[in-house]
Amino acid sequence: MSKPLEGIKIIDFTHVQAGPACTQLLAWFGADVIKVERPGSGDVTRNQLRDIPDADALYFTMLNSNKKSLTLDTKKPEGKEVLEKLIRESDVLVENFGPGALDRMGFSWERLNELNPKMIVASVKGFSDGHHYDDLKVYENVAQCAGGAASTTGFWDGPPTISAAALGDSNTGMHLAIGILTALIGRDKTGKGQKVAVSMQDSVLNLCRVKLRDQQRLDRVGYLEEYPQYPHGEFSDVVPRGGNAGGGGQPGWILKCKGWETDPNAYIYFTIQGHAWAPICKALGKPEWIDDPAYKTAEARQPHIFDIFATIEEWLADKTKFEAVDILRKFDIPCAPVLTMKELANDPSLRASGTIVEVPHSVRGSYLTVGSPIKFSDLKPEVTASPLLGEHTEEVLASLGYSQQEIFNLKEIQAV
Ligand code: COA
Repeated sequence: MSKPLEGIKIIDFTHVQAGPACTQLLAWFGADVIKVERPGSGDVTRNQLRDIPDADALYFTMLNSNKKSLTLDTKKPEGKEVLEKLIRESDVLVENFGPGALDRMGFSWERLNELNPKMIVASVKGFSDGHHYDDLKVYENVAQCAGGAASTTGFWDGPPTISAAALGDSNTGMHLAIGILTALIGRDKTGKGQKVAVSMQDSVLNLCRVKLRDQQRLDRVGYLEEYPQYPHGEFSDVVPRGGNAGGGGQPGWILKCKGWETDPNAYIYFTIQGHAWAPICKALGKPEWIDDPAYKTAEARQPHIFDIFATIEEWLADKTKFEAVDILRKFDIPCAPVLTMKELANDPSLRASGTIVEVPHSVRGSYLTVGSPIKFSDLKPEVTASPLLGEHTEEVLASLGYSQQEIFNLKEIQAV
């Protein structure tokens, strides 16, 4: 079967993580993604945190699979001319330069729309257009702070904390991909392209929706009963950091398992789902708690929830995280081991599903990456190697109608 996005041509004017994550996803699903990179250096991540000298860093390879690389100095007139030709025949241009960079290059939205009114122009910026910080350059952790994640992550007696998950970068890229696909469907109806903009702050805030819920509850009632601060601690007028508490109506915590003294990841996440209280008591060997008024309801349990967690930890003391989950799963208790990157990399289920894939690469030998987390019944996204810098320059220029001599001249001028 042909891939759903086959025939969609995308100019990938992205770098670092937020933009590349978006275009990589679209490339997996069949789009022809041409990454335009500065001659000589390319995307900065090619050189960042290298583990093999002279080979593209994993930071680059893991965010740019299934793409082509065209080197072009788009600040030089000859480079602009090539880019204009590419724009005329592309469906989408994606960029995540700093504020104003595309305009300074001479490719404002108005100009792009004039060159190709059917093209979708998709941008990631730190803050949305017109925001009082819209001139700021932004990286992941900046976005996590600006979007409400940092103030609500971590422990109440520690500082605001950054999540390891790329809430600012890849998450914004995923939002942008949804915007692009929506605009492509819109174009089928109107025949017109449009501008799609996603800010990192907005994308983080979108994922912190439940914390905005909590702010409004706090404003109204002055406390949040599912937070560890309740009922013994104090609440201020802002949503506090809740440690590892469950974010919804189900209390939960990270609990120690056998070996925690030496293994920093010998833990499970344990959720006390309200209607699973009886199975939990049975699993723990505490049948007397099932009907005990001090334990029977969520309200009754909350004041001594940490004593309950301590009892569960006693039960866990002679079980590894895997043994514990194998018992608890039989009682239908929502739980999981705290998995390390090493465990995930070697997980046979993730290998079988294509979520963890090993990709052959001409210079590195191979690299491990995260494949498509989205699974389809009629599409099996295949992950192919990220391109070497300028690997497809000749191919792309030839497809634009340049002769061999013109390609040679262009490469001379561009000092590729
Ligand atoms: N040929 C010539 N010039 C090129 C080029 C090419 N092929 N590709 C990029 N450039 C130029 C741009 O025109 C720009 O030049 P200018 O500033 O002189 O106008 C420059 O390279 C890129 O600038 P910028 O994007 O600001 O890079 P930076 O390294 O200073 O900042 C970020 C990096 C990520 C902070 C910034 O791009 C940014 O804030 N992006 C938006 C938010 C974002 O996506 N952040 C997350 C990244 S994971």
